[in-house]
Amino acid sequence: MEVTRDRAWETLTRYTQSEALRRHALAVEASVGAYAQKLGGDEELWRATALLHDFDYEIHPTLDKHPQDGAAILREEGWPEEVIEAVLSHAEHLVMPRDTPLKRVLFACDELSGFVHACGLVRPTGLDGLEPKSVKKKLKQPSFAAGVHRDEVYAGAELLELELDDHIRNVVAALQPIASELGLRTAADAPA
Ligand SMILES: [Fe+2]
Ligand SMILES: [Fe+2]
Repeated sequence: MEVTRDRAWETLTRYTQSEALRRHALAVEASVGAYAQKLGGDEELWRATALLHDFDYEIHPTLDKHPQDGAAILREEGWPEEVIEAVLSHAEHLVMPRDTPLKRVLFACDELSGFVHACGLVRPTGLDGLEPKSVKKKLKQPSFAAGVHRDEVYAGAELLELELDDHIRNVVAALQPIASELGLRTAADAPA
């Protein structure tokens, strides 16, 4: 099959009704897409993989099924192994080697995109003006976006051999153009 982000979106939305999960997929897609451009990856395939990485979470919300049972569905649908292997590799409990740029980028963008998204949701100007410093401060507050695994955020930056500040900046910049799809305000919405 031809791998396109639109086809991935179709698969995602067939299995996922939750707006929060769809937004998570869009956020990770934007970040992974930005890194595809930076690193010379196949942007369409990388975006499709990012959209699909949690596509089965709604039907398989436990780690004995997600994402491994989802992978079987993707295989049946004819997605290539390159996509399926990368989807599987995002899961820490499967302990798979992250031996391609796509696998490293997907892992590095998963938790951080969710975290930056959460930071934007509590700011009157959304992501506009959000600096790495304040993201890092919130990372140190365990009660803020408590579901985000901090150790995976730090491990992701390391895996990409990036300073955490640069990784955060890249993710913030990637999410800004889709702020409204993510339900975020922008500076234009803030009272003067
Ligand atoms: Fe996942
Ligand atoms: Fe995810």
